[in-house]
Amino acid sequence: MKTTALIRTLAVSLAIALLTAAPAPRAIAAQEFQPQVGQDGKDVIWVPTPQGLVDKMLDMAKVTPKDFVIDLGSGDGRTVITAAKRGSKALGIEYNPDMVELSKQAAAKEGVSDKASFVKADLFESDFSQAQVITMFLLSSINLKLRPKILDLKPGTRIVSNTFDMSDWKPDETASLPGCNSWCTAHLWIVPAKVQGTWTLPQGELTLKQTFQNITGTLKAGGAETPVTGKLNGEHINFSAGGAEYSGHVMGNSIDGMVKAGTKWTATRK
Ligand SMILES: C[S@@+](CC[C@H](N)C(=O)[O-])C[C@H]1O[C@@H](n2cnc3c(N)ncnc32)[C@H](O)[C@@H]1O
Repeated sequence: MKTTALIRTLAVSLAIALLTAAPAPRAIAAQEFQPQVGQDGKDVIWVPTPQGLVDKMLDMAKVTPKDFVIDLGSGDGRTVITAAKRGSKALGIEYNPDMVELSKQAAAKEGVSDKASFVKADLFESDFSQAQVITMFLLSSINLKLRPKILDLKPGTRIVSNTFDMSDWKPDETASLPGCNSWCTAHLWIVPAKVQGTWTLPQGELTLKQTFQNITGTLKAGGAETPVTGKLNGEHINFSAGGAEYSGHVMGNSIDGMVKAGTKWTATRK
C-alpha cells in the first residue's frame, strides 16, 4: 500500500474509533465542568457570595417557608439551596447552562430538589413577579435597569443585594458580615406601596409626594395646612403631621390606620 493510502486508512480508522468510543458531547461537558471564579457570564461574571453573607441576606429578608425566593443570576445555586433548606420554595435564574446543571446536582445532593429549582434563562427576560423575596449579586448598573420592574412588584416584596446598590433608591437596611474579606455587605429594600397623590380624609385632605419609601406632603384640615413627613414599609405607612403620629395600612386606593395625637400642654409658675 502506498504511504498516502496508508495514512488515509489510518486516519479513517482513528476517526471511526473515536466516534464509536466517545460519549455524547453533553455528557462530557456535565462531567468535566468545573466553575471558575471570574468566569464570563452574560451580563456579569460569576463570583459566589460567601456562604455567611448568603445566610445574612436571607436573615435580613426574614425568609420563611411561606416565601417564594428567586435568585437572579443564581451561579452555583447556593442562595437557592440555602433558602430551600429553610423550607422556602426557591428558584434560580441562570444564563449559563452548565451552572444550572451543577446547581441541580448540588440541590439533589442536599436533598432539596423538591423545593429548589433552576432555569436556564436571561434574567432580563424572566418574570419574577411571583417572588416574595428576590436575591441578587449583579452590578449597580444592572440593578438600576431592573429597578422599574422591581418597583412594580407587590408592595412588601423584599429585595436583597450583595454589595451593589440601586442608585438613589436608598436601602431600608444595610449590614456587613464581620470577619469577611470580600463581598461582605448586604442591602435590603422593601418595595413600597404607591401612595403619591391626593387622599380624602373625614377631617380634610392629604396630599402626598413619594420618593421611593419616603413621603412628604401636606394635611389640610380645619382651615390649617400642616406639613407631613413619613415613610413606607411595604404597605405600612407612617407619617407625622402637626405633632400627631399617623400609621396605616395601604390597600390600593384606601388606607386604614390609627392616629396618636400629641396633645400639647403648658404650665406657668405661680
Ligand atoms: C456574581 S454571580 C452571583 C451568583 C450567585 N447569585 C451568588 O450570589 O453566589 C452572577 C451570576 O449571574 C449570571 N448571569 C449574568 N448575566 C445573566 C443574565 N442576563 N441572566 C441570567 N444570569 C446571568 C452569571 O452567569 C453568574 O452566575
